[in-house]
Amino acid sequence: MSDLAKLEQEAMQAIKGCTDLGSLEKKRVEYLGKRGFVTLLLRSLSTCSPSERRDRGALINAVKRRIGLLINTQKELLEHLSIENQLQSEAVDVSLPGRSVDVGGIHPVTRTLERIQQFFCAVGYSVATGPEIEDEYHNFEALNIPPHHPARAMHDTFYVETETDGMPNVLRTHTSPVQIRTMNKGKPPFKIIAPGRTYRSDSDQTHAPMFHQVEGLHIDKDINMGHLKGCLNYFIKEFFEVDKLKMRFRPSHFPFTEPSAEVDIGYEIKDGKIIIGEGDKWLEILGCGMVHPNVLKNVNVDPSKFQGYAFGIGIDRLGMLKYGINDLRAFFETDYRWLSHFGFDPLDVPSSYRGLSR
Ligand code: PHE
Repeated sequence: MSDLAKLEQEAMQAIKGCTDLGSLEKKRVEYLGKRGFVTLLLRSLSTCSPSERRDRGALINAVKRRIGLLINTQKELLEHLSIENQLQSEAVDVSLPGRSVDVGGIHPVTRTLERIQQFFCAVGYSVATGPEIEDEYHNFEALNIPPHHPARAMHDTFYVETETDGMPNVLRTHTSPVQIRTMNKGKPPFKIIAPGRTYRSDSDQTHAPMFHQVEGLHIDKDINMGHLKGCLNYFIKEFFEVDKLKMRFRPSHFPFTEPSAEVDIGYEIKDGKIIIGEGDKWLEILGCGMVHPNVLKNVNVDPSKFQGYAFGIGIDRLGMLKYGINDLRAFFETDYRWLSHFGFDPLDVPSSYRGLSR
C-alpha cells in the first residue's frame, strides 16, 4: 500500500474513532491543519518535477478532500448525538406534580390591629407609641399606682436589669404608660390610641407572657362617660360587623380611672361557633374609665378644666373572638400550618368600615 493510501486509512480510522467534537478538532488539525500531515505532503511537492507535482498533487488533494468530507460527516454526527444527549438529560417529566409557590400570610394579630387602627383613625384618633421597656414611674407611679399598691403585684411584672433613677425598669405591663408619655409631650385636647406589646408573667390558654393591647385616650373640656360608651359601642359593632350588640359596663377598679368599668359583650355559642350580639353569656373584653384627676395632675393637665376617658383593649382577645381561634398560645408558636390556616392573604386589604371614610 502506498504511503498516501496508508495515511488516508489511518486518518479515516482516527476520525471515525472520535467520540466528541474536541478530539475530532484535534484530528482535523493533525491532518489538515497548517502543519498537518496532508498539508506537509502538499508542501513537499515543491521539490518534485512539474509532471510529478501535477499527478501526485491531484492524488494528495483527493485525499485531502475525502478526509475533509469525513470530518464534516463525523462532526454532524457528533453534534446530533450531543443534542440527543442533552435532550435526554434535560428531559422534563411532565407527569410530575408542579412545585407550588408558598405565599406568606398576614398574622391574625396584625390583621386585628389593622382593623382596630382603621376604625379609630377614621373617627379622629391618632396613633401614639411608647417603649416596651418602661420605668416604674411611667408604668405605675404616674398612673396613680404607688409602691406597695396591690395592683403592682396583680400585674405579675417582669423586671429587667437596667434602671432609671435607681429603680429597676420593667417590661410594660399595659399600654397605659403611653397615656402619660403622650400627655407629657403635648397640650390638651388629646385623642389617641396606643397599640403595642405588653408583658405579664402569666401563661395559660387565654394568657401569654407577651400579648397586645390598644390604649385609648380622649381628653378635652367636656368628655364624659356617655362619649366613652358611644365610642366603644360603635367600635365593637363595627369590629364584629354586627348591627345588634349587647354590651354592659360593670363597675370595676383601676387606680388610674375614676369611675372605672369593665366592659362585657353578650354572646352565645351556636354549632360550636361564637356569635357576638346574641344569647345570654357575657365576655369581658376591656377595661376603661374616666381618667383619674391625680393622673391629670401628674402630667400638668388641670383636672378642673379638662377631663376624659381612657380604655385598654386586649387585641389578641378580640382577634380570637373575631376569627374563631380558641387558644391564645397558638398565636405565638409560629407553627407554619397554623399560620397558613389562619393567616390572611397579604394582597387582600381589609375592607374599610361600613359608612366610615378614611
Ligand atoms: N391598663 C388596664 C389593664 O391593663 C386597662 C385600662 C386602660 C383600664 C385604661 C382603664 C383605662 O388592665
